[in-house]
Amino acid sequence: MLLAGGTGVVTQELLKDALKYGKCFVRNGNTANYIPELQRVNKYQLGICAVGFDGDLPEVVEVGDSRVPFTIQSISKIISLILAVRDRGPDYLFHDKVGVEPTGDPFNSIVKLETKSRPFNPFINAGAIAVASCINGTSADEKFDRFLELTRKLCNNKEISLNESVYQSEKETGDRNRALAYYLKASGVLEGDVEECLDLYFRMCSVSVTALDIANLSAVLANQGKCPFSKEMLIEPHSAKAIRALMLTCGMYDGSGEFAMSVGFPAKSGVGGGIAVPLVGRMGIGVFGPSLDEKGNSIGGIKMLEFLSEKLDYQLF
Ligand code: DON
Repeated sequence: MLLAGGTGVVTQELLKDALKYGKCFVRNGNTANYIPELQRVNKYQLGICAVGFDGDLPEVVEVGDSRVPFTIQSISKIISLILAVRDRGPDYLFHDKVGVEPTGDPFNSIVKLETKSRPFNPFINAGAIAVASCINGTSADEKFDRFLELTRKLCNNKEISLNESVYQSEKETGDRNRALAYYLKASGVLEGDVEECLDLYFRMCSVSVTALDIANLSAVLANQGKCPFSKEMLIEPHSAKAIRALMLTCGMYDGSGEFAMSVGFPAKSGVGGGIAVPLVGRMGIGVFGPSLDEKGNSIGGIKMLEFLSEKLDYQLF
């Protein structure tokens, strides 16, 4: 049993009920079809994990496919942002490189790049590519090693590594991201070599994680940047706060407003089927469900979170 700040209780029974409810919707969606390696995944998988840190020892509750590996995809945008803010400072990053406003457009949209001097926010592809170009390091390898080291710490899992076949698949089919990156280079936003930056971006998206790993990452964000297991400060508190705010307004792409109304938690999704949810001062939730809606968000995952938000005494709205 996991105590959620004394006001709501997440038990294995509750998660089982959420899973049962979420499973009813999975058939309505599909795996990401624009990356062949993601399309091949079994869309009927679904799992959820919660890591609470109210007491001295963090508690883990999980059901379903919570230990099945999937690629982190856009949830990596949280981790690259932590690094870039650390390397360049929040003023430079959020002023010169990306904004902090939702777009209302799909995550891979190009349409607003011509009308604004920088991408609207760091969670759309254009914004994340600009952010990736701000990570310090002498080569893509060195930058990716820094990303991987931080990911392993945030997820409390030293085994986390790259899914090579998804990485190759991303690279082969990533022309839209290439178009975004070259446009950003031409307008002076993207720093350094375009192909090196894209290679880093593709690799960061292709790191393999589980719902348990994502719950641990979410718990660090919910705990103001401190890992509830190692007690190490892993994220500067100002970054953790900015990221949670961005998750609320931009984390589910052009589905962020609807998600805020139906669930009311900060969240960040990825097209691998993951969703990260930090509940401040209480717990981190990680979800895996690769059947996606038309906006690229996990259908079963959203439904499980809707169920939990109804049952828990913890909504923002
Ligand atoms: O850039 C891409 O197309 C993907 N590798 C990541 C996008 C993603 O996860 C969007 N998520 N909902």
